[in-house]
Amino acid sequence: MKAAIIYTSVTGNTSTLAEIICEKMNNHHIETDLIPVDEFHPQLLYNYDIVTVGTYSWDNGDLPMEMEEVFEAFEEEEVNHITTGVFGTGDSFYPYYCGAVDMFRDMLYVHTNLAVTLKVELTPQDEDLHRCEKFCDRLVSELAVVS
Ligand SMILES: Cc1cc2nc3c(=O)[nH]c(=O)nc-3n(C[C@H](O)[C@H](O)[C@H](O)COP(=O)(O)O)c2cc1C
Repeated sequence: MKAAIIYTSVTGNTSTLAEIICEKMNNHHIETDLIPVDEFHPQLLYNYDIVTVGTYSWDNGDLPMEMEEVFEAFEEEEVNHITTGVFGTGDSFYPYYCGAVDMFRDMLYVHTNLAVTLKVELTPQDEDLHRCEKFCDRLVSELAVVS
């Protein structure tokens, strides 16, 4: 079993969250690759049983531009066997909190075996660690059901 975390981050909040999730996946003994979006290409998706996506939100809850290729890859490739999750950071000061997480969620629900989503306010706090654990537990138990 192999997992990937494909993520983007400008000011570090989402990359911190991605690193926490990576560590917790490793605690489940699932080998997990952390892939910054600039190293992504669509064929990579075929290497993994679990793929999670990490994104911040921008411009009225929109996807960051650099995540569009990832979004389109899930729409275009044969990925319905992959168990997925989406996580993100945002700022509830904005009207559409973590809107990019919702956009990925809706698309992944259609095209993949979506297991779980997670939204974190700005940088992860101690109380978010337990939520990250639950995120990983959910992914792993969903994988057990489909495999
Ligand atoms: C110009 C601008 C627009 C933003 N728009 C949103 C938004 O619509 N919704 C949201 O939840 N957060 C919004 N944010 C907050 C970022 O998503 C948040 O700071 C996030 O944690 C940044 O992630 P990063 O540190 O991984 O780059 C915005 C931030 C900026 C600077």
